[in-house]
Amino acid sequence: MINAYIERCEQRRQALLAAMLPNSVCIVPASTLVTRSNDTEYTFRQDSDFHYLTGFPEPDAVLVMSNSEVWGSPFSALFCLAKDPLAEIWHGRRIGTEHAVDQFGFSQCHNLDDIEVGLTSYIDGHQHLYYARGHQAQTDTLIDDVLAILRDAPKQSKQAPECEIDLRALLHEMRLFKDDDEIALMRQVASISCEAHKQAMLMSEPGKNEFHLEAQLHYSFALHGAKNPAYSTIVGGGDNACILHYTNNDCLLQDGDLVLIDAGAELLGYAADITRTFPVNGHFSTAQKQLYQLVLDAQLASLALFVPGSTFKAATDKAVEVLTQGLLDLGILTGTLQDNIAEQHYRQFFMHGIGHWLGLDVHDVGNYKVANQDRPFEPGMVMTIEPGLYIAADADVDEKWRGIGIRIEDNILITPQGYEVLTAEVPKSISEIEALMAG
Ligand code: GLY
Ligand code: MN
Ligand code: MN
Repeated sequence: MINAYIERCEQRRQALLAAMLPNSVCIVPASTLVTRSNDTEYTFRQDSDFHYLTGFPEPDAVLVMSNSEVWGSPFSALFCLAKDPLAEIWHGRRIGTEHAVDQFGFSQCHNLDDIEVGLTSYIDGHQHLYYARGHQAQTDTLIDDVLAILRDAPKQSKQAPECEIDLRALLHEMRLFKDDDEIALMRQVASISCEAHKQAMLMSEPGKNEFHLEAQLHYSFALHGAKNPAYSTIVGGGDNACILHYTNNDCLLQDGDLVLIDAGAELLGYAADITRTFPVNGHFSTAQKQLYQLVLDAQLASLALFVPGSTFKAATDKAVEVLTQGLLDLGILTGTLQDNIAEQHYRQFFMHGIGHWLGLDVHDVGNYKVANQDRPFEPGMVMTIEPGLYIAADADVDEKWRGIGIRIEDNILITPQGYEVLTAEVPKSISEIEALMAG
């Protein structure tokens, strides 16, 4: 049965073919399994571009599309692993070439074993080849071999494409704007991730290990149908929160410390990316409250700029202004607001960007500049907002601020009227967090 997502994939293939130059062929490979250690592989994750265009869940397949009249545009063919009873006993069921046509709406489907001959025939005679070279070495080599065959056989009337065009420009522009099905999925994965964060807050107490909270998050994701996290989970207690990509998650949580959790589930390929920071014991100290409220104020001020026509630059400038003023008010920085901003003194404590596109990839595709100008937000874009403050254990500031890392990260959909916070279900004000943890 062709479900709604698969139908969307067919529509996306048609839209992509319509946007290409006439007489173009396009090739998109699936991911491949990667060995983890002898005879075992890392958990398979489908290539995002391939998933977006096919919904086909198996490794090693290759999608070919053409908008040439010769193939009966719009044309799409899949090369995939053929049915093989013995291999399927060992490695799992395969869809096979017949069902790939019925269930996924391809015009034709072929055995992967025939790919070199098949691709030679499909590419032959097209003027343009759209392909994301450099993304997957194995397919680069295959395509080079096929192009060499075509270039070497002009007397047999074979003709290689005159030009190769980077597919990413067209395809990633499409992926930047989420359609209704994608937005529904992103709301769902955001909600699953919010629930997991709430469960982790409820479980927190001094003496638990960071890995207990990590286990709770992953358990909660899986329990709600999201078997995998979208990226490596960060659970950083105390000054571990100041390591931006901390993933060891193996220290005891100490009474009086904050803990920072950056974790999001993946559902049908789509990511959530949420950070919350809360007291291990459920109560913020005075210094923690002051810094936390400052990050929250910066987030809320910046959030007002996540509207159509605004930019990441405008949102960053607002967050930087609020954070810098707050650091001055607390005596952590000295001097004037203007000088501190101009000299970027805040970067000692806030050293990353305000956010990034979010979608099939947690750091999703899409240009951040257009014609060298900051890209205005438009309805259908989804991104994160994630200001933070990180005061290292050896920072040259009053002792009471040291070893505190705070980030508050939400997922935002730009709407025609403004924005929707997809991750609003997990508390972020001091009183909401303390109330939840008291329960
Ligand atoms: N979790 C990765 C990030 O926040 O960008
Ligand atoms: Mn993020
Ligand atoms: Mn994050």
